Amino acid sequence: MTKLWGGRFSEETDKLVEEFTSSIQYDHLLYKEDIEGSRVHCRMLMRQGIISQEEGESILKGLDEIEGEIERGELPFTPELEDIHMHVEHRLKEKVGPVGGKLHTARSRNDQVALDFRLYLRREGKELRGLLRDIQKVLLEQAEANVDLIMPGFTHLQHAQPVRVAFHLLAYVEMFQRDISRLEDWHRRTALSPLGSCALAGTSFPIDRHFTSRELGFEGPTRNAMDSVSDRDFAMEMLSILSIIAIHLSRMAEEIVLWSSTEFSFITLPDGFCTGSSIMPQKKNPDVAELVRGKTGRVLGAMVALFTTMKGLPLAYNRDMQEDKEPLLDALETVKGSLKVMTGMLKGTRFNREELERRAKEGFTTATDLADYLVRKGVPFRDAHGIVGRIVAHCVNQGLELDRLSLKELKGFSPLIEEDVFKVLGVKESVDSRDSFGGTSKREVERAIAWWREVLGEG
Ligand code: ARG
Repeated sequence: MTKLWGGRFSEETDKLVEEFTSSIQYDHLLYKEDIEGSRVHCRMLMRQGIISQEEGESILKGLDEIEGEIERGELPFTPELEDIHMHVEHRLKEKVGPVGGKLHTARSRNDQVALDFRLYLRREGKELRGLLRDIQKVLLEQAEANVDLIMPGFTHLQHAQPVRVAFHLLAYVEMFQRDISRLEDWHRRTALSPLGSCALAGTSFPIDRHFTSRELGFEGPTRNAMDSVSDRDFAMEMLSILSIIAIHLSRMAEEIVLWSSTEFSFITLPDGFCTGSSIMPQKKNPDVAELVRGKTGRVLGAMVALFTTMKGLPLAYNRDMQEDKEPLLDALETVKGSLKVMTGMLKGTRFNREELERRAKEGFTTATDLADYLVRKGVPFRDAHGIVGRIVAHCVNQGLELDRLSLKELKGFSPLIEEDVFKVLGVKESVDSRDSFGGTSKREVERAIAWWREVLGEG
């Protein structure tokens, strides 16, 4: 097959080279954006009198047909035609004849691919935002349903202080909100169109980049043609955003694996989201959460891959940059899949009330409350810390929890301790006493739930 760029060549491209340089295996996903960009480019060429009305009409008709063919899976993809841009252009010439070759006037694949990928990612970004909203909504529903449920809060994976289950779940809602906000920033920063930058230096044809930008839903054209075709910040940034989402999901996945273990028994996962063992009949494994945790490695790998590819590239376009698509497209699918499956799993997760409440009391989780109690009686916090430390050591030796000690025993450590101490040693009292803004008290958690209900209700 003669290449669209074959003029200056006298030998056929080696088969190995065709296979090696082709990107159609993955960039065929950009067909919609490619055709959309071509349509707008064609209409602009007509408006500017660069091609005739008649020529433009036949190109537009051809593009419509090609879109249908690709949608119906009728256009075969071949490495000989390298990428999606060449496939569309080649097919267009087959359909409308030599006039199809006029579409590429005042355009290069360099600005074409920069446009297509940007458009594609802007769409994906919106979908991603929707999936983040979905998981936030399920977390909020679970928070509302479990607002009275208390569990141990951890630091260093050791019992720290009791908290509400809802409070813990809302921490994830916050994390996903930051992801959404990063996506929104990204969306604002990618609002300029590179189309019309051509190979690297602009064009001598009287094109209208403002028209094409507007028609494609951008705020305006990019300012520097050389930067526009060299820039892959939008792809690197998207990979950073995806990596952080994946890290958030992996932390949640890790907690799900732990919490569903026999040792924790905090939660029961829905059967439909677990798998069994081929040998051990009793097993119900949290493979979904494990895979979400595991796939994070893949997403981070994709980010490092593109960052490394871009490092040290001279301006403007280099073929290295074709390596932007595979990792990013894979990372997108991976993160979208992880979000969907985690949302489904969370929806069907049950919290085991008795176990959680029993555990919330273990490990001296109200020791800080006891120290605060002494502080209120006038003891400096550092001294109170020391006294309670000694009480805890005593309990550890005796194999007792704090609230099992008698008032007499407690008084032995500090004469300031009175009967009212037992109020602060209770888990529920402890939780509700943490009423500072952003704390875990019922009042604060209900305020947070109401706030989120409003934010998530707005879409
Ligand atoms: N498939 C190429 C890519 O994704 C398109 C741009 C090719 N441009 C070029 N001058 N070879 O980067």
